[in-house]
Amino acid sequence: MPDKITVKAPSSTANLGPGFDVFGLALNAFHDEVTLTRQDSGINITTDGNIPTRPTDNTAGLVVKNAKRKFKIRDGIKIDIKKRVPAGFGMGSSAASAAAAAVAVDRLFELGLDSDALVELAGSGEKASAGTIHYDNVAASVLGGFVIVRDNPLSVIRIKPPQSLRMCVAVPSITVPKKKTQASRSVIPTMISLKDSITNLSSATSIAAGFASGDSHMIGSSIRDVIVEPARQHMIPGFASVKRNALKAGATGVAISGAGPSVIAFSEKGADMDEIAAAMAKGFASAKTRCQTIICKPSVGAIVRG
Ligand code: HSE
Repeated sequence: MPDKITVKAPSSTANLGPGFDVFGLALNAFHDEVTLTRQDSGINITTDGNIPTRPTDNTAGLVVKNAKRKFKIRDGIKIDIKKRVPAGFGMGSSAASAAAAAVAVDRLFELGLDSDALVELAGSGEKASAGTIHYDNVAASVLGGFVIVRDNPLSVIRIKPPQSLRMCVAVPSITVPKKKTQASRSVIPTMISLKDSITNLSSATSIAAGFASGDSHMIGSSIRDVIVEPARQHMIPGFASVKRNALKAGATGVAISGAGPSVIAFSEKGADMDEIAAAMAKGFASAKTRCQTIICKPSVGAIVRG
């Protein structure tokens, strides 16, 4: 058994509009890197990021703690996190660290976990950040590509995205509340009309069909969410302009990335992604907000680096 393992895991976007808590897509925009080293006892966390280092408040720490209990691991574990996915912006930051930690602990202790068990373990760490467990980001970050989370029992369908799919993520420079995911989940309606549920179901199934048939245009043009987006968009300054501008500049679809406040535009090879990025930045600027734009592609999942 090795003494030390380093795993790199990608950022991700959850929901893709109508697939709330069900769809995830790994993005090569950012990566977190987690190194686990055996030590005599306890769990200690070091990081270059601005995140909690108490194991129960840290997604990677919670994954390791849960794995130690579940698999009766007696060794202590030192966790070092190189944080590159911006935390709290809807880019699957907490999930990337949790995913890397789950894959690393599996390798370090030769647990032999299958994909679903890895996602379940990574998801148990998400509780440290989101308060509730949802598997969309962690599934994408562990497995890569496009994922559909099937619940109860948990199992994940993974589909390789079309090569032609392109995205632009705009990350606004705003201060996000500490418990952002809880706050943005609290505004979602608990009751929805049959009409809205049909619209979102139609959009979500078309997105899944787009991934299954490798049709980037079908994916982007099916992104329509009449349930969660209307409830959350007030939390994102300039959202309506960002969306309108991106669509005008050639995006085929626009969604809030995960719980926000980042906004993601979808398009395909051949589109002028720089123009889409500039249009999104202009949308945020209209609300006196600066943003970072990242043009990206789907990513593979967590990778063991040694
Ligand atoms: N599906 C989750 C949400 C993702 O939208 O609340 C949070 O990262």
